[in-house]
Amino acid sequence: MTKRTARAVASPNIALIKYWGNRDHNLRWPSNGSISLTLGGLETRTTVTFDKTLPTDRLTVDGLPPPNSALLRVSEHLDRIRRIAGIHTPAHVESQNNFPAGVGVASSASAFAALTLAGTAAADLSLNPKELSRLARLGSGSACRSIFGGYVEWHAGETVADSYAEPLAPPEHWDLIDLIAVISREHKRVGSTQGHTLADTSPLQSVRVADAPRRLNICRDALLHRDFPTLASIVELDSNLMHAVMFTSTPTLIYWSPATIEVMHAVTTWRAEGLDVCYTIDAGPNVHCLCRKQHAHQVEERLGYLPGVINLLRAHPGGPASVI
Ligand code: PMV
Repeated sequence: MTKRTARAVASPNIALIKYWGNRDHNLRWPSNGSISLTLGGLETRTTVTFDKTLPTDRLTVDGLPPPNSALLRVSEHLDRIRRIAGIHTPAHVESQNNFPAGVGVASSASAFAALTLAGTAAADLSLNPKELSRLARLGSGSACRSIFGGYVEWHAGETVADSYAEPLAPPEHWDLIDLIAVISREHKRVGSTQGHTLADTSPLQSVRVADAPRRLNICRDALLHRDFPTLASIVELDSNLMHAVMFTSTPTLIYWSPATIEVMHAVTTWRAEGLDVCYTIDAGPNVHCLCRKQHAHQVEERLGYLPGVINLLRAHPGGPASVI
């Protein structure tokens, strides 16, 4: 057969306890474990076609050819899949997002989770979820969490082979809502792959990493007991710790805009007024406002009045990545 095609869908995820820095950059073996929520309603759909008539790999994202660096990263991931399958066939990859890429909504997580599923299915491989998570991790660290739905934990691992994600609780365990306050649509200047390599230049990184098991325990327990106040304080602390490492890296990494801080202030004020909402920020200026479903409407309305917020995306606990 000259062509073999498969299609997969995956959602991005928001880290509640963040991954920042690696023990091994090439293998994306993280310095610390992390916990996330898979974001239903946002998705990447990817088709992989292995085609013997193609001279080289081809990639389109949202209908357009992306920069060469993106094609190279996708080709490297296809090489991992080809190596396992024992094939050499070039592939055509078409990827479509229903949310803006490169603005801190972790498009690489859903992109590499969908690519891993579609690529392995098109290559006729049948890997179990743990193997898929480990493979997705090599494309983009946070992608290993997007293989699963709901609340997910990525174990840093004693060895690199032990570094994969597992589900903590299914999506229906707790109907939290993530309201993403979009501050900018500009593509970020320093991607997370490069950012991770700077983490160890900060004198705060070792302290952040040493304290990670404690934060993971608090976050896991708060999720399992649906304890919002405890979750809110550990999620904000963890986000602030990661950004403190970024601020104190050499060179300095500042992803925030003035409007980012405006939303952070507003969220903590609203929580003091009785709304169950907290903030967390990835490697971009946008603010993820995590709230209880019964307060989501009020938070959404209030975010809409903040001048720096140019758009709002809404996500709910989503399902696992799947072949479609
Ligand atoms: O998986 P990467 O390389 O895109 O890094 C993700 C980094 C953060 O989004 C900032 C934190 C996380 O755990 O998702």
